[in-house]
Amino acid sequence: MSTPTTGPSRRAPITPADPAVFVGFGASGDLTRRKLVPALINLRRADALPAGFAFLAVIRQADVGGTLAEDVLRTADEHLDTPLTDEERGWFLGRIGVVVGDVEQPALYADIAARLAELQAEHGTGGNALFYLATPPQLFAPIAAGLGQAGLLDEAAAGGWRRVIVEKPFGSDLASAQALNRALAAVLNERQIYRIDHYLGKETVQNLMIFRFANSIFEPIWNRRYVDHVQITVAESDGIGSRGGYYDAAGALRDMVQNHLFMLLALTAMEPPISFDADAVRDERLKVLQAIAPFTRAMVQRDVVRAQYASGRVKDVPVKGYPQEDRVAAGSTTETFVALRLQIENWRWAGVPFYLRTGKRLARRVSEIAVHFRQPPFMMFRDTGVRSLNCNVLVIRVQPEEGITLHVDAKVPGQALDLETVAMDFKYDDAFAQTPSTGYETLLYDALTGDQTLFHRADSTEVGWQVVMPILEAWQSQPAPPCYESGSWGPEESHELLERDGREWRRP
Ligand SMILES: NC(=O)c1ccc[n+]([C@@H]2O[C@H](COP(=O)([O-])OP(=O)(O)OC[C@H]3O[C@@H](n4cnc5c(N)ncnc54)[C@H](OP(=O)(O)O)[C@@H]3O)[C@@H](O)[C@H]2O)c1
Repeated sequence: MSTPTTGPSRRAPITPADPAVFVGFGASGDLTRRKLVPALINLRRADALPAGFAFLAVIRQADVGGTLAEDVLRTADEHLDTPLTDEERGWFLGRIGVVVGDVEQPALYADIAARLAELQAEHGTGGNALFYLATPPQLFAPIAAGLGQAGLLDEAAAGGWRRVIVEKPFGSDLASAQALNRALAAVLNERQIYRIDHYLGKETVQNLMIFRFANSIFEPIWNRRYVDHVQITVAESDGIGSRGGYYDAAGALRDMVQNHLFMLLALTAMEPPISFDADAVRDERLKVLQAIAPFTRAMVQRDVVRAQYASGRVKDVPVKGYPQEDRVAAGSTTETFVALRLQIENWRWAGVPFYLRTGKRLARRVSEIAVHFRQPPFMMFRDTGVRSLNCNVLVIRVQPEEGITLHVDAKVPGQALDLETVAMDFKYDDAFAQTPSTGYETLLYDALTGDQTLFHRADSTEVGWQVVMPILEAWQSQPAPPCYESGSWGPEESHELLERDGREWRRP
């Protein structure tokens, strides 16, 4: 199953993206150094960047400006699969401009406009510009407003396209997400807004649609008649690291469930779109979120589990508990683990529970979607030694070892009739030549070519928040969450959530 049937590993030729200036706000930050610049270099290595390309770094500290380009390249080099060549260094250094200033001061945008015009003329990029907001989230709206007031988002005046990539988190609740959408809509059309979710940059996530809709064998059984339930797991073995300040105010439900897990859920459960057009796909993803049964207080009590990691051992290394982490408030009740059971109320999925879980400091780092199929309708082996049948499980692994595994029962060789579950396994790395990736290449390429399919639309961000708001509100009047041991698979309550339904979590 792991070898492509039409020949050796192959890669479709790629059309270079449109000429453009990439304008990076927060260009001195971690994301730009570790992910964005390496991704741009990987795109160039794949011949996906146009000849007309320039990078304009927007930073706030003048003393960083002189060495920024070299500094960014140094970190980028550490995150590339193969070291930067002198030619690549020359390429980047020859097309980077730096503007220094405070994003809340209008003067900065006049400087950006002037430097942008110079880079456009020098590198033949036309009027196209991609603004990437890699800054703290409270600056997203002020930067959009500043760009708008300076006329930098006006495509007619620019003579080219103007697009804005907005990083996560997209709001911290429904009201703040709505306010951010309003602030963006005041200066941009929806087709200019790219709300990024790096989970959608992963091959397996994109492959979910291909897997479902480019093959004819799965879709007929992808429904309530054949599927018993679905489990979606996004487990991390890391703790919160240095993100205590952000994480303690957010928690796992806001940080992971409302965006990444809901997107995996939507891709798993959506109806076939009428085309691969961005809005056709996004319409179907939205309908899944709209069909989630609203959480009442009783449902939150019964179907949602939250917990916080205590000390323990992860991969045999002792680790501290969440309360002992840096920049975590004393007595914090922030959840680092969430498990929940939800229902999608539509024709395809009525009665099929979807179980979602995510957490930090769990036993392993793994993200997967496991579709559990129903038991065969009739036990024809009842007079043999076979006492029970396992249900078939289709596992779509998002990370690590991206791939797909189908678990089926097979006869153990020999005279006795005995069954064992075996795995049919497809691993991306075995089937296709690996492409170096930070996970941002596809998303940057899509933004440069104007494909919004893998980006969130305003309506889906708001519906995602609408679903989780009753949970956040109910938690306010609930006692502090229980603890789970670091290195485990979460609290006992999470296992009980499935046991109550006669099911159990997979051990990935
Ligand atoms: N890092 C990741 O892997 C990752 C992953 C997913 C999402 N994100 C999101 O991406 C965004 C950036 O993350 P990051 O990790 O790069 O953060 P970071 O390392 O803290 O960098 C933030 C950048 O914003 C600049 N900045 C902060 N306050 C500013 C202000 N008042 N005016 C102008 N510039 C200001 C910083 O400038 P100074 O250098 O001068 O402080 C820095 O360049 C965040 O929204 C984050 O949630 C990051």
